[in-house]
Amino acid sequence: MGASSNVIRFEHVGSVGLIRMDNPPVNAINHAVRAGLADVMTEAANRPGIQVLLLMSAGDVFSAGADIGEFDRPAEEPSQHMVQARIEAARVPVVAAIHGLALGGGLELAMACHYRLAHTTAKLGLPEITLGLIPGAGGTQRLPRLIGARAALDMILSGSPVSAPDAHASGLVDEVVEGDLREAALVFCRRLVAGGLGPRPTCDRSVASERFDEAGIAEALRVHSRALKGRTTQNLVIEALKAASLPFSQGAEVESALAHRSVTTRESQALRHVFSAERESGKVKGITKPAQPPEIRQVAVIGAGTMGSGIAMAFADAGREVTLIDNAEDGLARGRAMIHATYTSSVKRGRIRQSIADESIGRITGSMTLADAANVDLAIEAVFEDIDLKKEVLSSLDPIVPPERPIATNTSTLSITELSRVSAHPGRVLGLHFFAPAHVSRLLEVVRGSDTTPETVATALQVAKVLKKVPVISADAFGFIGNRMMLDGYFREAEQLLLEGALPMQVDRALEAFGFAMGPQRVSDLGGNDVGTKARLQLYKREPRPDPYFVIADRLTELGRLGQKTGRGFYCYKNGSRDALPDPEVKGLIETMSAQRGITRRLISDAEIVERCVLALINLGATVLEEGVAARAADIDVVWTRGYGFPRHLGGPMFYADTVGLGHVAERLRHYHEKLGHYWRPAGLIRRLAASGLSFEQWDSNRNQ
Ligand code: COA
Repeated sequence: MGASSNVIRFEHVGSVGLIRMDNPPVNAINHAVRAGLADVMTEAANRPGIQVLLLMSAGDVFSAGADIGEFDRPAEEPSQHMVQARIEAARVPVVAAIHGLALGGGLELAMACHYRLAHTTAKLGLPEITLGLIPGAGGTQRLPRLIGARAALDMILSGSPVSAPDAHASGLVDEVVEGDLREAALVFCRRLVAGGLGPRPTCDRSVASERFDEAGIAEALRVHSRALKGRTTQNLVIEALKAASLPFSQGAEVESALAHRSVTTRESQALRHVFSAERESGKVKGITKPAQPPEIRQVAVIGAGTMGSGIAMAFADAGREVTLIDNAEDGLARGRAMIHATYTSSVKRGRIRQSIADESIGRITGSMTLADAANVDLAIEAVFEDIDLKKEVLSSLDPIVPPERPIATNTSTLSITELSRVSAHPGRVLGLHFFAPAHVSRLLEVVRGSDTTPETVATALQVAKVLKKVPVISADAFGFIGNRMMLDGYFREAEQLLLEGALPMQVDRALEAFGFAMGPQRVSDLGGNDVGTKARLQLYKREPRPDPYFVIADRLTELGRLGQKTGRGFYCYKNGSRDALPDPEVKGLIETMSAQRGITRRLISDAEIVERCVLALINLGATVLEEGVAARAADIDVVWTRGYGFPRHLGGPMFYADTVGLGHVAERLRHYHEKLGHYWRPAGLIRRLAASGLSFEQWDSNRNQ
């Protein structure tokens, strides 16, 4: 069959020409797909006997969009525009039948077809904005022609896919089908032919533009303001959508120019960097993916505190059976109550349906005996952060859990190697550092002790996949990757700035304006100052730190100012509100601590606050790389954007360092080293890279060659 290629298959089904994209794993539209589609459109549409063309896909998804790997290369013809122009101009109607996902270029392709139907479980969306891009293959011109300009603006700004029934309601698809999509689509095609319904090019439609005036646009921007904080891509989206009122070819030209501009922005480079870093972080040197991924059906979680209950919910939400074990009846009852309260609130807030909550709750069985961990595929201890207690639990678990199955410890401070040595099989012990709330946060630090085997790590990577979390591998060292950088770098510097003259509100506001989701002092108050103090006490057993080091936070803990939960911390919180109000008492306390250290307080600019906190983070990131705690600079970016609120559109601290230039970073570190002393010594890696004009990105790729 001349019209078929490796990735595009063609078959006659009576009068229907069935075109099938088959480009695993996600039918990304690359050059081969475009070339195949262009050929098939020319050839098949003109074949005698063909009265309608049906476009479908093999695999799990219709298409995840344009091939991201081709974005930074010069475009090779045929372009997607050319393919779509052929579809729209075809002599016979072209129908897209969508299953799984139609995202980005995948949806743009479907929108260029004359008719669309979707399986009821399918999702359709234009997620380009999450990559700092605007839809560049006609999306901003065809979507408003199908659903109206205002609805198109909302859909493009949100970047989230809509369900097939919603897509039907808005006019994006013509029909939603259940059951066998191929059969239903063939019936639809035959109906078109029988009804004499011909091609219906989307480009010929006009745009409904109600509520797409300045007020409507401002309203849409307000709705999406949280996700779009610090971003600029939305301006290009609006400009492109405005051009949809022009004749199609002119609007498409405007869109092309804006799309090219979006690809070259630093924002887009940063967002695409994080996208690929998140996919690379699960690929680890020396760890081969087993042909048969290890089964994770049954999990035991030991310790029904906040973390243990959160971890239990994470597995239950992923459809896994969980035994939640606690040796105290009231501990177990508290865990159960927390789990119920969490699901009740999720249902109330419309996040999940009651039936889904009930199913998850039903998968968690409480127990007071460790023997119930006998048949699990994975055991995770999440008891109180105390080395002796954890050792005791691990040594009791060791003979119970089958020896070939991993035992994980959820710790943020303790040595995995030391803990693993209580096991008769230390190779199966590893750290799984979950981030609170464990059932929500997408980050998972996988910590390898000295003895942890590659097989154990491979299972941990599979666990992350099951939980839909992004794994980052860390070596077993003080604070692992994230907390080490937070404590020795970012938060430490924030405290230092307080001692030198800033106040909590100024530090937080400056860093929030930079793009952090929440400033460091507000984060401390949210998590509990006592939690930080306790964690640091554990860490000091591994490595002490000289004064001043978190002296203010620790003093607040001593004073019972634990944060939001006690209504007072770095800030004051009135009547259970989350609004952080400045507290004169804290100001006085900080001033006293400055005086005790002989520091003359001074006015500090917001720019200095941001520069010092971010530079400290970068310097520690480089140290963590040099020490081999993290394997890739990109892994650090994943940790900080996923787990610590670093603005994703700046790409993470290491990508950000590259964008400002390591020469500049090194020079500023030297400046602060001279001014502030030893802890500002520039990391050797930064000095070396700066001297040879290299970036962290180049360092990563040189090491992976
Ligand atoms: N182009 C090229 N490759 C893509 C891709 C795209 N648009 N979308 C996904 N992939 C690749 C991933 O890199 C990954 O490759 P790997 O196995 O070599 O690491 C593979 O497809 C599977 O993707 P992954 O994200 O790991 O699987 P998932 O099931 O968790 O998610 C998607 C699937 C499609 C939801 C997700 O990959 C996604 O959101 N993709 C981007 C969609 C997008 O933004 N499209 C707009 C571009 S115009």
